[in-house]
Amino acid sequence: MKTSRDVVSVDARPAARSVFNVYKIREDFPILRQKIHGKPLVYLDNAATTQKPEKVIEALHRFYSQYNSNVHRGVHSLSEQATEAYEDARSKVQRFIHACHVHEIVFVRSTTEAINLVAQSYGRKYVKSGDEIIISAMEHHSNIVPWQMLCEEKGAVLRVVPINDQGELLLEEYEKLFNPRTRLVSVAHVSNALGTVLPVRTIIDMAHRRNVPVLIDGAQSVPHLKVDVQQLDCEFYAFSGHKLFGPTGVGILYGKSALLENMPPYQGGGDMISSVTFEKTIYNVLPFKFEAGTPNIAGAIGLGMAIDYLDEVGLGNVAVYEQELLCYATEVLSTIPRLRIIGTAREKVGVLSFVIEGAHPHDVGTVLDQEGIAIRTGHHCAQPVMDRFAVPATARASVALYNTREEVDALARAIHKAIELFC
Ligand code: ALA
Repeated sequence: MKTSRDVVSVDARPAARSVFNVYKIREDFPILRQKIHGKPLVYLDNAATTQKPEKVIEALHRFYSQYNSNVHRGVHSLSEQATEAYEDARSKVQRFIHACHVHEIVFVRSTTEAINLVAQSYGRKYVKSGDEIIISAMEHHSNIVPWQMLCEEKGAVLRVVPINDQGELLLEEYEKLFNPRTRLVSVAHVSNALGTVLPVRTIIDMAHRRNVPVLIDGAQSVPHLKVDVQQLDCEFYAFSGHKLFGPTGVGILYGKSALLENMPPYQGGGDMISSVTFEKTIYNVLPFKFEAGTPNIAGAIGLGMAIDYLDEVGLGNVAVYEQELLCYATEVLSTIPRLRIIGTAREKVGVLSFVIEGAHPHDVGTVLDQEGIAIRTGHHCAQPVMDRFAVPATARASVALYNTREEVDALARAIHKAIELFC
């Protein structure tokens, strides 16, 4: 019998599967079938990286076993096939985030590289001494350090929007940070350490009223929320393939054509040029101007397949299911004595960060591992967030479409065990 626990029939878009059955979904992920320390694997470290469905693994295998070749270079059949598959993946990404043009999709290594590209290309061209860049207090290091490096080089200033005790952005403080020297806003869509969904539509509108462009770090949002870059109207959107059930080493920078056109290349090399002489190099058109060197071809194809997979499942189904699971996990963990949830924003997805009075998160993580449960412990590459909540680290359970209530129950049992051991 189907229960509300395993079936969610609401979908924002028509899905090939009319209902979302988590147990069926789990069959698509071979890694989930294994045991760790003799216990069934409970994988709750999805904010660090997600597991891959069979389809994605097969696509990688097919590429390397049947048509491995370089792209945009050869006239031979294999190269043509590889080029077609690589460019097809780009079109899938365009559709997935609803970009206006396919040339607005740049393949990069990761979210980190996408942000560095904007900082080093757009930033170096347009940010001058005394200018200001706004970020939030809940950014990942990859959306802090590239801007700090740029500010140091240019003599510019980094401004930080504070957050409240729930881990929500203080919009009235954000408003106060704008002045005529503000050149860019760069914020996360979803905080990796807290799970907060930032009000990006409002953040973008407020910046646009001052003609300030906005970059959104979407690393933690794309696996959970439907993203429409035209509706958001952001200038840049960055995300990684591996957090979206695709391979590692591939990511996306979306940028509005008009901006990308006027930005200098980030790196020089093959494929980003249309002609080279020792006197002068003419750069290639978009998006190739930003894709120097042989790209991660298999990675891009794998990411395209991950998008196909999500399309089949229906991201709307995933969002509803995960929301229910996160509510359940929050409820269950809230009843555990000595446990404090860090990040209790009204709008959250994916992440449950917590500390246990008297037990270090690393020790908790080690006990959980013995129970077959994988979570992340530490500062989550977001040390300023830890400082804001006055904790050195947290334990973080992060969910994906294949996690179940039974796994949440196993997590709770293992936490109780850790408390018995350490407290
Ligand atoms: N940014 C990844 C995380 O939050 C690695 O765990």
